[in-house]
Amino acid sequence: MKQHSPQQLQIFLDIATEAAMAAGVILQTYWGKLEEIEEKGRPGDLVTAADKEAEAAILKVLERHVPDHGILAEESGEQGNKQSEYLWAIDPLDGTTNYAHQYPIAAVSIGLLIDGIPQVGAVYNPFRDELFRAARGLGATCNRRPIHVSSTSELGKSLLVTGFAYDRRETSDNNYAEFCYLTHLTQGVRRAGAAALDLCDVACGRLDGYWERGLSPWDITAGVLLVEEAGGKVTGYDQSPLIIGSGRLLATNGRIHNSLSKELLQVPPLSTWVSK
Ligand code: IPD
Ligand code: CA
Ligand code: CA
Repeated sequence: MKQHSPQQLQIFLDIATEAAMAAGVILQTYWGKLEEIEEKGRPGDLVTAADKEAEAAILKVLERHVPDHGILAEESGEQGNKQSEYLWAIDPLDGTTNYAHQYPIAAVSIGLLIDGIPQVGAVYNPFRDELFRAARGLGATCNRRPIHVSSTSELGKSLLVTGFAYDRRETSDNNYAEFCYLTHLTQGVRRAGAAALDLCDVACGRLDGYWERGLSPWDITAGVLLVEEAGGKVTGYDQSPLIIGSGRLLATNGRIHNSLSKELLQVPPLSTWVSK
């Protein structure tokens, strides 16, 4: 793998930031003014003009700066140079369901994978005007200030977050049992509705841990790097090295990683957890 200097990563981070801010303007413009909300396929999997226009704005910025890179964008798919070691994973609007209901937890997420490893990430929530950024080896920031994961070390004192994929009605591997069981064992489990922001909230210490299945590379590439650069840990549920394409991850402050992993691997069926 080619080594990238901090200066080179910083240039890519600035490109990601420019693209995220451009998309943020579009999300604000359409806020509360959507004329049509379509379903993409599965019930509840929505797409709006804001998703599409925000993505077009991001692609325009990337085309100007890095026309020879590869791109994986949620709404328009794989494009650009498919041979490139660089792959930009783009979610123009993470939290579309929230956005469509005017529930202001939504963000633009732009991550850069180099040879399959997250190296740069920018996540922008225009409704809180919060810009989370990270580049490998250069740390993580929120609005340009360094951020760190929390110091909570007991699962019983932790506040967690998770989510439910759009295939939840079609599979019994739908995270419902995990949600109930961990709610029982911790101070709470939130379901905020934007995976990229869930990861940012772990990175900045508002939340102690996050797990979810059914995720796509555009949901998590930037956020995974934010958690790692903020001092946290991201793996599979069983603590195996993270495979971005597996769609399943466990991200924590590091201190509760073992205990949360252990519990996720032994979740009792929904009918039994109450009496534990
Ligand atoms: C969704 C959100 C949600 C998560 C889903 C994602 P979208 O992304 O991140 O929190 O639970 O699995 O697909 O559709 O709003 O971009
Ligand atoms: Ca998403
Ligand atoms: Ca999206």
